Amino acid sequence: MEVVRVPISGATATEIASSVRDLIASGELTPRTRLPPVRTLAVELGVNRNTVAAAYRQLAAAGVAEARGRGGTVVASVPQPASEGAGFGGRLIDLASGNPDPLLLPDMLAAANRGAYRQPLYGAPPVDPELAAWAADRYAADVAGRPFRVLVAHGAVDATERLLNAYLTRGDAVAVEDPCFLASIGTLRVNGLRATPVVVDHSGMRPESLRAALEGGARAVVCTSRAHNPTGASLTAERAAELRAVLARHPQVVVIEDDHFSAVSAVPYQRIIPPETARWALVRSVSKFLGPDLRLALVAADEETARHLDSRLRAGTMWVSRLLQHTARQLLLDPQVHELHARARTAYAERSRLLVTALNARGIATPPAYRPDGLNVWIDLDTDARAVTDALARRGWAVRPGDLFAVGSSGRQALRVTTATLTEQHALEFADDLAAVLTNPQAA
Ligand SMILES: Cc1ncc(COP(=O)(O)O)c(C=O)c1O
Repeated sequence: MEVVRVPISGATATEIASSVRDLIASGELTPRTRLPPVRTLAVELGVNRNTVAAAYRQLAAAGVAEARGRGGTVVASVPQPASEGAGFGGRLIDLASGNPDPLLLPDMLAAANRGAYRQPLYGAPPVDPELAAWAADRYAADVAGRPFRVLVAHGAVDATERLLNAYLTRGDAVAVEDPCFLASIGTLRVNGLRATPVVVDHSGMRPESLRAALEGGARAVVCTSRAHNPTGASLTAERAAELRAVLARHPQVVVIEDDHFSAVSAVPYQRIIPPETARWALVRSVSKFLGPDLRLALVAADEETARHLDSRLRAGTMWVSRLLQHTARQLLLDPQVHELHARARTAYAERSRLLVTALNARGIATPPAYRPDGLNVWIDLDTDARAVTDALARRGWAVRPGDLFAVGSSGRQALRVTTATLTEQHALEFADDLAAVLTNPQAA
């Protein structure tokens, strides 16, 4: 990478950092440009190397530059995180999107029009009282009798981002599942937080891997209790107890549970937050079962964490539209929607089962007793997954390669197949095509 010569000036670390910021603002330094090596700039400015190193650290801490080890310090660019739902232009059968089945989502507009809605003005309570009461009632058992408050955020990712920023600062480490939900990876990246990978098997986070992440200094954990995206893993009662034991030894760590599939999950919720954890949140988005456009998550949290979330909402967007909250309440309390969710639960479980059965029948192995929950099936491969996704695309299928979800640099060779709308015929045809591609990649 070219090192551009620019007129950086200053005698102290703060002056040098400020000069670099001015040069970025004026366009003389552009994203991805490598700053001069510490030693070179120190000689040029007649200052100690430590002074330049401190200036570069300030810039990295502020997110203005990135320290790339041997690659030097580079002007940061706006991160472009990968996201769910990337389109494939209708050319391919989309088993990649991570989206729920639109036919299994209720009618939001009809619900918005039902019941009493009076337009709240500034100063109204930020949370619909009936929605909060409904959630408090339902969540009491899940928080094991601990005192908690219910808040409403603009979705799970929003709640997670606000909570991490309330407790952590740039450069802090957060333990997350590896592979990981794309939006969590993106949130950590754009906020300058470091993702510490925790290995996941078909029962969720591995305890020894979580222990290593915490002993390595992670200040928060974001854990998907069930229907882990991308693998479909869900915590067993036994695994959750093991994770609680690990977390109990690190009571200062913030624990965020992302229970995103709650109402349509085929398995019971398992709590990983031990009584020792002081700062915790159980986040339940409605995106997967009422629709992602509601942009709403119910959050149960200890009082301090609830206050942080509340203040961060108030200072910015103030509250989640009470019209949306009203709509969510109408839907969540509607027996017909409960029936729809019962159908969705069965349908999603059946669709992923169809695919796993079809794969196994063709010799494509999945872990013993693998019963993925959620919208995706994860297939570990012992060959280059990108070549396989390319070959599948030539046969008309869009799926995602596992390394996209990697937290570290080395992703697993795997495929994530979204089964949310999978028909039996497509399950069989896809399994045939994947078997053919794996047997003879050249012929694909
Ligand atoms: C693990 C996980 N958490 C949360 C969500 C939903 O996030 P949000 O509520 O921000 O739409 C998803 C959606 O794909 C998910 O896979």
